[in-house]
Amino acid sequence: MDHLRKITKIPFNNVLLLFSRNKSFIKIVEVGPRDGLQNEPTLIPSNIKINLIDQLSETGLKAIEVTSFVSPKWVPQMADNTEVFRGINRKVGISYPVLVPNMKGLESAISVGAKEVAVFLSASEGFSKKNINCTVQDSLDRVKPVIQEANKRNIHVRGYISCVVGCPYDGAVSPASVSKVAQSLLSMGCYELSLGDTIGIGTKNTIEAMLRDVLTVCPADKLAIHCHETYGQALVNICTALDKGINVVDSSVAGLGGCPYANGATGNVATEDLVYMLHGLGVETGVSLKKLIKAGRFISDFLGKPPQSRVNNVLISKI
Ligand code: HMG
Ligand code: MG
Repeated sequence: MDHLRKITKIPFNNVLLLFSRNKSFIKIVEVGPRDGLQNEPTLIPSNIKINLIDQLSETGLKAIEVTSFVSPKWVPQMADNTEVFRGINRKVGISYPVLVPNMKGLESAISVGAKEVAVFLSASEGFSKKNINCTVQDSLDRVKPVIQEANKRNIHVRGYISCVVGCPYDGAVSPASVSKVAQSLLSMGCYELSLGDTIGIGTKNTIEAMLRDVLTVCPADKLAIHCHETYGQALVNICTALDKGINVVDSSVAGLGGCPYANGATGNVATEDLVYMLHGLGVETGVSLKKLIKAGRFISDFLGKPPQSRVNNVLISKI
């Protein structure tokens, strides 16, 4: 891109838009029901979660993360995982992944009929210890048999890497430590790696430096970007990832969420804001913004707070 900029003398932002616009389709992985609702202070009734997921299934989204099969002592908000997974109306053509930290989680996911799971690790030691109670190396050793067993059963495995630019406990995270985990997860059999800016601290430059390094060990078509919105940088950082050839973006309806083990981190980029931006760039998502806004409103009204989505707040009166 630097090369192109020199030739054309196009200002940087225009080059960014130019490249993003050349894409025809971006897949959105909706993580609100899991990443969003795991962080709510009160327990949300399962029927509300099921209603939300069923509404999201009607929006045109192709992937909706339903819940996580983690220890209920660690994340009580996801303790109704079985009931929620069994309660939703699973539509053909949509994938409904669930998070699993270990073999026990995988067994539970298998028992409810999940066809896709996600393992989650960290590029930083501090977050790894706080979130899953082990070192990064131990987490790699732990997920290896999980990925093998899932693949043996034709269950697709996504790999999350958290804290890809910064950690709430260790500070700045080096691109090399992200690449190391990425390379391992890829070789173990993950079909896609989602790079998480868990605390939303990344800027265009730090995200770009991280991606440059990761792309030396993993092709862009096996990567997704997962940006939390804490510092308001998510859309710029997503554009940076699109520019690097990434075509899968995680987001959360109404900007729900955060991680209970990453203090102060806010929700993911709002799916409504992401869809609005992508459609504005002429990129297809297959998602109906109108239906999405209604789903975002439904859950926000239940939670008794306005959606953390500018687009939702502006457009709600117009639909
Ligand atoms: P531990 O305490 O070290 O594990 O936790 P343990 O093996 O000693 O087990 C402790 C208890 O948990 C035992 O029960 C186990 O049976 C039970 P007890 O004998 O005390 O009654 N247990 C389980 N129960 C149900 N399902 C399971 C399971 N595993 C053990 N799968 C563990 C280790 C990994 C289990 C724990 O730390 C944990 O569950 N952590 C999950 C934390 C979490 O879910 N964080 C949020 C998701 S990650 C995230 O949000 C980031 C992401 O969005 C990307 C980004 O933004 O960067 C993905
Ligand atoms: Mg997250």
